[in-house]
Amino acid sequence: MVDDRTILITGATSGLGRALAQRLAATGATVLLHGRDAAKGERTLAEISKATGNDRLEWYRADFADLHEVQDMADAIRDRHTQLHALVNNAGIGPPKPGTVRTERSAQGHELCFAVDYLAHFALTRALYPVLNQTGHVDHARIVNVSSTVQAPLDFDNTVIDRFETYGQSKLAQIMMTLDLAERFRDTHVAAVAVHPLTVNDTKKAQTSTTPDARATAALIDEMDLPVINGKFFNVSTEERAHRQAYDVRVREQLRNLSEELTGF
Ligand SMILES: NC(=O)c1ccc[n+]([C@@H]2O[C@H](COP(=O)([O-])OP(=O)(O)OC[C@H]3O[C@@H](n4cnc5c(N)ncnc54)[C@H](OP(=O)(O)O)[C@@H]3O)[C@@H](O)[C@H]2O)c1
Repeated sequence: MVDDRTILITGATSGLGRALAQRLAATGATVLLHGRDAAKGERTLAEISKATGNDRLEWYRADFADLHEVQDMADAIRDRHTQLHALVNNAGIGPPKPGTVRTERSAQGHELCFAVDYLAHFALTRALYPVLNQTGHVDHARIVNVSSTVQAPLDFDNTVIDRFETYGQSKLAQIMMTLDLAERFRDTHVAAVAVHPLTVNDTKKAQTSTTPDARATAALIDEMDLPVINGKFFNVSTEERAHRQAYDVRVREQLRNLSEELTGF
């Protein structure tokens, strides 16, 4: 049977994203691979195509530290595709090394981890709403946000985005976005879910660059029903409560307003 799904994976050039891309390519789905490095992307596409025999792979380059590049990529995808069955928001830069402070900023001047892990995906998801929605009318569509069990509360006292300095705040922001999307798409055939993708052992392996186990994330795309996953946070395969701040609708509204202001979406 032909797999007629179209699936976009951000950060598909290494780690979990790459493993997931290969797994999904093996089913024959049309897989859109994203990354920031053109040479690495083309190499990854060629290797996955060779390993799986899938010639329906596409490569999209965008540095998520620049919202203009995110917008251009969304435009290019919308030009080519009227259907998107899964958007996997996976690209990320991880926490700074222990004892160090990350000082780099995105092109728009935002703290880098918050910009890449959260804001870029907020913008991409908004830009791809119409395609996801349209897919939901005829089929099922899902947004899978690759988050983490590392979650830290957001602090809006200082409106300067430098306050969102940590990985944990960016990952919790992704979960808040998930809950908002779940509300928005309730009673439709589009679902949003957040996942911490790897067990502790697999996390250690991922750090030593062994191919990570993408099964838990793949199951959210391939196997689990929309009503079961919509608005949920999974720790690998087990549904779990996220940090309590995620369930505070006022905080989520504050974050949504701030994100719209910062991204222009
Ligand atoms: N690994 C774990 O143990 C673990 C645990 C919990 C959650 N997670 C989450 O899982 C996701 C994947 O993690 P991973 O370990 O697979 O990470 P990884 O191996 O470092 O891969 C991250 C991907 O994101 C891309 N990326 C980084 N910065 C980018 C930017 N500015 N613009 C566009 N793409 C960019 C990378 O591109 P390059 O290939 O060019 O670097 C790569 O494709 C992340 O969101 C992470 O927070 C991972």
